[in-house]
Amino acid sequence: MILAVIFLIPFSQASGNFSLSSSPKCTVLSDCPKNFAACMNVTGLSEKRCVKDTKQICIGGMPDTPVKPCNRSRDCTASLERYSGWCDLETKFCCNVDPKAADSPFCPDRITPLYGQEKCKDVEKGMVYSGSSDQRGGLCYKGYSCPPKITRPTDLTFGSMTFRTNMDCFSTEKVDTKYNFMFCHNETGNLWVIGQLNLNGEEVMKHWKQCDLNTDCGEGLVCVKEDLCRYRCYEDPTMVMNYDWVVAQLSAMFLLPLIFLISIIFFTVKYLD
Ligand SMILES: *[C@@H]1O[C@H](CO)[C@@H](O)[C@H](O)[C@H]1NC(C)=O
Ligand SMILES: *[C@@H]1O[C@H](CO)[C@@H](O)[C@H](O)[C@H]1NC(C)=O
Ligand SMILES: *[C@@H]1O[C@H](CO)[C@@H](O)[C@H](O)[C@H]1NC(C)=O
Ligand SMILES: *[C@@H]1O[C@H](CO)[C@@H](O)[C@H](O)[C@H]1NC(C)=O
Repeated sequence: MILAVIFLIPFSQASGNFSLSSSPKCTVLSDCPKNFAACMNVTGLSEKRCVKDTKQICIGGMPDTPVKPCNRSRDCTASLERYSGWCDLETKFCCNVDPKAADSPFCPDRITPLYGQEKCKDVEKGMVYSGSSDQRGGLCYKGYSCPPKITRPTDLTFGSMTFRTNMDCFSTEKVDTKYNFMFCHNETGNLWVIGQLNLNGEEVMKHWKQCDLNTDCGEGLVCVKEDLCRYRCYEDPTMVMNYDWVVAQLSAMFLLPLIFLISIIFFTVKYLD
């Protein structure tokens, strides 16, 4: 009993950095203090731990077993392609769909896990689409920042904004067919939703070349899973053009010859003197 009281003290709130290592040890649930909901195996710990409420591990859905800490979804699985779970951004544990839950833990696209996405600000209770997202192009849904809506399908129109999801991918693997209008960013390692506009707000150019991987498209292009079963090369919408640099280049092209000319004239005149 005294032990149980001592062990209860280190419990922190679900928000913040919740750690299971200080939770009471157990073999079965009956070893746990009253009001605890589960006795779970935890990756990296040799003995099982009592869990008060699985919501402390997964705000939505249910914990992967064994319970696994994570920073991003690739920490949760070796096979991202088949993984429908996520890394809870708040608790930093791997979570998956609870088959018994009534509510879907996905964004309106039915693919992007809600609880793996950033939270929205100024969310009004009960207003599903309320709040504002710090992420460019983010659509607030149930308090989380989701990919913008896609218009389907006949004319291959899609959302206007390019958006980074927290779903992970490997740019060495073909993007799964379920990720419509997404591509794998080879530097962030995330699936991005392509928009009609790039991060500079300019129209994204589509190339007709078909592809499996970004490398099939070449430098500055990405391989996008379109609707149906097509994969085509598009300009990388995440490459932000540095206009200052372009201006500097252009100036150099004109200014250098001009300076050269002026100095020739100058020295010629001086020489003639
Ligand atoms: C949680 O951990 C992160 C880094 O892992 C740190 O930046 C943050 O300050 C921590 N938050 C709290 C509440 O301790
Ligand atoms: C707990 O997980 C470890 C591996 O993570 C496994 O070896 C062990 O058998 C598991 N224990 C139980 C009781 O499931
Ligand atoms: C998460 O990131 C922190 C800081 O970079 C690191 O110490 C920790 O081991 C990472 N956790 C996992 C599960 O990869
Ligand atoms: C990622 O893609 C860009 C654009 O295609 C390319 O310039 C860059 O070298 C690639 N990086 C890696 C690590 O493959």
